[in-house]
This record gives sequence, C-alpha cells and structure tokens, in this order.
Amino acid sequence: MSFVAGKNILITGATGGIGEALALQLSALKPATIFVAARSADKGKAAVEAFKAAGAADAVVVMGDLSSKAGVNSIISGVRESGKPLHILIANAGAWNTRDEGRVTTKDGLEFHFQTNFLSCVQLMKGLMNLLEKSGPSRVIVTGGYGVIDPKLIPVEGLMQTGMDDLQFEKSKVTSGLGPNKFNNDLSYGQSKLLELMYLKKYITESPKKVTIIVWDPGATASNIGAWPMLKEKMGTVAVSMLQFVLGVRAATTSCKVGVWCCDSPEAANAHGTYVEWGVSGALKKNVPVPLGWFPSYFKYAPAAMDDDKVNEVYKKANAML
Ligand SMILES: NC(=O)c1ccc[n+]([C@@H]2O[C@H](COP(=O)([O-])OP(=O)(O)OC[C@H]3O[C@@H](n4cnc5c(N)ncnc54)[C@H](OP(=O)(O)O)[C@@H]3O)[C@@H](O)[C@H]2O)c1
Repeated sequence: MSFVAGKNILITGATGGIGEALALQLSALKPATIFVAARSADKGKAAVEAFKAAGAADAVVVMGDLSSKAGVNSIISGVRESGKPLHILIANAGAWNTRDEGRVTTKDGLEFHFQTNFLSCVQLMKGLMNLLEKSGPSRVIVTGGYGVIDPKLIPVEGLMQTGMDDLQFEKSKVTSGLGPNKFNNDLSYGQSKLLELMYLKKYITESPKKVTIIVWDPGATASNIGAWPMLKEKMGTVAVSMLQFVLGVRAATTSCKVGVWCCDSPEAANAHGTYVEWGVSGALKKNVPVPLGWFPSYFKYAPAAMDDDKVNEVYKKANAML
C-alpha cells in the first residue's frame, strides 16, 4: 500500500537535480500537497506546476534559503501557517562549493557547508518535529551521501581531520585535492554530510516514536552539484555525458527511486534509524537498510560516526547553535 497517496510532503531542493526527479515520481503517487521549499520564486513556481501536472493534488511554494537561520524559519512558518498536517519531510537540498574562493561564510557567520547542509537540516527537522509527530505515522527522509567515506571523492581518510574544536575549519589548514593551504571545499562538504549522520545517530534514539527517520544515498548522480557545471563549461555537455556514462553516474530519475522507496514503501516504515543505499554507481542494487555509520558499498564504517563521545559532542554543539 502506498504511504504517499493522500499525504502532505515538504521537500527541499526540488527545484533541480535529484529532488526534482524525486518529487516528480512522488507526484505520480497522488500526494495531497507538496510543499516546495525554494530560494527562487520563479524556480519554485515552475516546480509547483510540474508536480501538479505529474499528479500531485496540490503543490505550493514555501520560500526560504537554507544558508540562513531566517531562511529555514521562513520555510517552517510557511508549512505551519498552512494549517495542514505534515506526513513526510524530505531534507534533500545540499550544496557543494567547488569555486576556488577559500572558506565561505554565511550571513549568520557560519561556514557555508556546515550551515547549509548540516545545521539547517537539523533546524528544519526539529522545527517541524511536533507537526510530524502530530500527523504520525510520518517519515523524515534525509539525503545523505557516500562522499563521507569515498577516498576518491573526499581524499582524506576518515574525515574529522580538523578535530572536534574546529568543525567549521576556522583554524585548520587541512587540504586535499585542491592545492596547498587552500580551504578545502571537498572536505568541508564531506564533513557536513558526516556531521548530519552523526547528529541523527543520536537523535534517532530519542525522537518521537511515530516518526520514522531514514538517511538515504542516491549514489553518484548527474546533477548541478559539485564539479559537474564547471566540467560542462570546460569540456562541453557531450564529453561530460560520456564521462558520466563511463563512471556509472546515474540519471537523477534512476537514483531518486531509492528515495521513492524510503517515502512510499510499507517496509520503509520499519527502517527507522537506518541508512538506505542501493549501490553508489551504475544500476540500482537493492540492499537492506543498515545502521547509520555503515557504508555497504565500501564495507566500512565512518570512524567518527562510531565514536559515541564524538557523536554526543556533535549533538550538543549543534543543539546549542539552534
Ligand atoms: N549528485 C550526486 O552525485 C549526489 C550524491 C550523493 C548525495 N547527493 C546529495 O543529494 C542532494 C541533492 O543534490 P543534487 O545532486 O540534486 O544537487 P543539485 O542538482 O545542485 O540540486 C540542489 C538543490 O538544492 C537546492 N539548494 C541548494 N542550495 C540551497 C540553499 N542555500 N537554499 C535552498 N535550496 C538550496 C537547489 O536549489 P536551486 O535550484 O535554487 O539552486 C536545488 O534545488 C544533496 O543533499 C547532495 O549532497 C548528491
């Protein structure tokens, strides 16, 4: 039986890439309302029209930029002020700055990836948790990623190289592929996803019972994130498509099927506190959900996610910043 049919969904990052493909496929399952969190009114409007055309009974834009606390609060208010119940929160939006411009900070003075990918996800989820609980059984689906563990992508083993006292790379000169003593965007992106995982690892032990929380991994996907737009500019679209084919990079319409399963399948209702990954490249290979911190395709744990002291500290630090 479909969980999505007749339900209300909030999704971030549905104006492009994986989130857009996911929301389109969910629309075909006839949800009642899709709240489209967007930072651009035009893109939000286009998404709303597309989701309604694809089958959603209704879709509305809730404006907010995830790189600021005010932006997240605006999304939360938009959903609350509708007066509707909320059954599925899909925290999907993510950003990976690959421009060589050093450490970027947000309006709130926080490191860009730390706030946009990690802290805002926590702020959004906690800001809507009592609504989700009231509407239970409900689901929170967070888009994580194998970037946490893949040494080719985030080329410093284990991450958390900066130590717990420097989660926003204020002091550290840790570098990897981008050159000596430059702030490393790859590490910061990977670490933001790791922090999200660590926070959730603690949160799932005390979150409301009626809310199933799952982290899912779309795997390598052709989208606008990271280096893909820059590579297209340099190499051209055809060459990039060929490269993606060789690397087994998935189309967003394929990778989002893992997210559809998390949102819709009856089995996923029992997957609270797990990581759902169906391989990280090439064709989807359905795996069983695994505990947070374990990466099936790499057959290893992220060390920091298995360290209870670090997990508790990340949890405390993030809560103190909300
Ligand atoms: N692509 C991959 O290979 C891959 C692999 C593993 C995990 N992931 C994860 O998948 C998720 C989706 O990424 P994607 O690949 O689909 O990227 P994408 O094509 O760049 O799409 C990102 C989406 O997030 C939105 N977004 C970015 N920054 C935002 C902000 N500050 N405020 C509000 N919305 C913002 C974008 O909105 P605009 O349209 O306004 O830009 C867009 O809708 C991310 O969490 C990413 O980390 C991706």
